[in-house]
Amino acid sequence: MIDDIKDITSEAGGLIKEAFGTKFKIEFKTNESNLVTEVDKASEKLITDFVKKKFPSHGVLAEEGGSFNRDSEYLWVIDPIDGTTNFAHGLPIFSVSIGVQKNGETIAGVVYDIMNDIMYSAELGGGAYANSEKISVSKNDKLTRSVLVTGFPYNIAENPENALEKFIALTKVARGMRRLGSAAIDLCYVAKGVFDGFWEVHLHPWDVCAGKLIAEEAGGLVTDFDGNKTDIYSKRFLTSNGLIHNEIVNILKRN
Ligand code: IPD
Ligand code: CA
Ligand code: CA
Repeated sequence: MIDDIKDITSEAGGLIKEAFGTKFKIEFKTNESNLVTEVDKASEKLITDFVKKKFPSHGVLAEEGGSFNRDSEYLWVIDPIDGTTNFAHGLPIFSVSIGVQKNGETIAGVVYDIMNDIMYSAELGGGAYANSEKISVSKNDKLTRSVLVTGFPYNIAENPENALEKFIALTKVARGMRRLGSAAIDLCYVAKGVFDGFWEVHLHPWDVCAGKLIAEEAGGLVTDFDGNKTDIYSKRFLTSNGLIHNEIVNILKRN
């Protein structure tokens, strides 16, 4: 199945790359920060049509309204463009993210970093890859020597979960803090050892389904902000190389 996921992810990536920098229709979702473009919708339709045709018994959970058969044994969790704000503003950091779950457990995940042409992938128990190269998390065991990445939800004005205080506290301790604008790419960069940790509040399952498996298969640890194992529906999502995890948890708990 991983090859099918890669093929359709690559096809969706091609469609998105072709549209990048051109004029496309943009609409607001919950507020003026929360955008959806006609390209998000076209990418989602391409992928969901593929699932319907090739795997008619499978279900889909997709960001832009294309969900169906959500109780099926196999569920495709789809973010048709992760990084829509970047895409709409001409910043070349965005991805397509597809995770596939069997009975609620993620068994395969693919994140395509479109503009760098890097396909991150993982199958449960099979390790994580960037194109054909095996990847693993960093070995950094000190937060003061770590570079972290985060993101902000579209309701950040309400400061959910004290996200802004957490951001300040971690920024003061870590070597660096980044905000790239694609949670799926953030997770792959943790998997690759570029970043040592990633945390964010109020993410959605399509943001993290594939990236969580890729990070875990690369040796990373994924928990909530209390350090407890978590799933793709978590509203308090933390990933790290494992070695700096407790240091981050302690700061998140205090703020
Ligand atoms: C967003 C990105 C961003 C994160 C937001 C997400 P979208 O997804 O992953 O990095 O900070 O919370 O909603 O809307 O571009 O698919
Ligand atoms: Ca997303
Ligand atoms: Ca999206």
